[in-house]
Amino acid sequence: MLEPDSIDATAAALQAQAYLPSRELATAAFLALRLKRPLLLEGAPGTGKTAIAAALAAALGRPLIRLQCYEGLDLAAAAYEWNYARQMLEIRLAQAQDRQRTADDLFARRFLIERPLLQALTATPAPVLLIDELDRADAPFEAFLLEFLSDFQVTVPEFGTITAAEPPIVVLTSNRSREIHDAVKRRCLYHWVDFPDAARELAIVRARLPGIAEALAAQVVAFVQGLRRLDLYKLPGLAETLDWSRALVELNAVSLDPATVQSTLGVLLKYQDDIARVQGSEAARLLAELREAARA
Ligand SMILES: Nc1ncnc2c1ncn2[C@@H]1O[C@H](COP(=O)(O)OP(=O)(O)O)[C@@H](O)[C@H]1O
Ligand SMILES: [Mg+2]
Repeated sequence: MLEPDSIDATAAALQAQAYLPSRELATAAFLALRLKRPLLLEGAPGTGKTAIAAALAAALGRPLIRLQCYEGLDLAAAAYEWNYARQMLEIRLAQAQDRQRTADDLFARRFLIERPLLQALTATPAPVLLIDELDRADAPFEAFLLEFLSDFQVTVPEFGTITAAEPPIVVLTSNRSREIHDAVKRRCLYHWVDFPDAARELAIVRARLPGIAEALAAQVVAFVQGLRRLDLYKLPGLAETLDWSRALVELNAVSLDPATVQSTLGVLLKYQDDIARVQGSEAARLLAELREAARA
């Protein structure tokens, strides 16, 4: 499909992929496409940062290339690597045939193994490149990214500079376990992805689980929204809301009751301290609130 020409069209294209963005996120995505700038998304885990890249790729009919960051991620894994084995073979063959090989022959393009960043520059049509969880990578990698993000190019010392014919659409995400360097931020448009409000969260649950009972979906969302107002160590994200909804559907639950909540809290909360805190009185209080609200 063509690039959306408005914020509304961007939101609609994402919604068609069952991704329901906030107005602010749709605006950020639209501007990133228009200005051809990378989009840096920060926010709590499970708020839809990774998923928007896949939704954008599907909406625009472009391939998705994903680079998952981790501590120690280096150029060889992120951008390119020389195919050492093939170079050695080439030398052997040349020796056997008594041909001369120069170093230049050996650092030719066909010996270059493309990793995600380089693939993103050479793929057609220009892909959506997801650089996921950049906060897990370390500072030298961020420094390397600077050239990539500002010029959409990679310089291979033995070979030269490889530039994108058409720049990829770049989405970077961070769970903010540490601050991303200012120099990276400067090259990007920035958006903080928040937890959705109740109305959008309910719409997302319905979009992702079309079969769920209306009343159950509403209760799940109200309960999760209530949990997010508590001072927990790790607040449940959308991923947890959807997992919990699926679990409840699996258990044939039609509405929330204390016993069901009690036995499924581990789908929603992943820290024993949080579970202990919510189990019993907090859960009962939230459920009572739900009933109140339903009656009102
Ligand atoms: N706005 C949204 N609309 C529809 N589904 C969403 C939305 N945001 C998140 N999700 C779903 O929630 C889950 C978690 O999202 P994810 O992108 O993995 O979170 P993050 O990368 O922020 O940790 C995924 O299954 C995703 O499809
Ligand atoms: Mg993610």
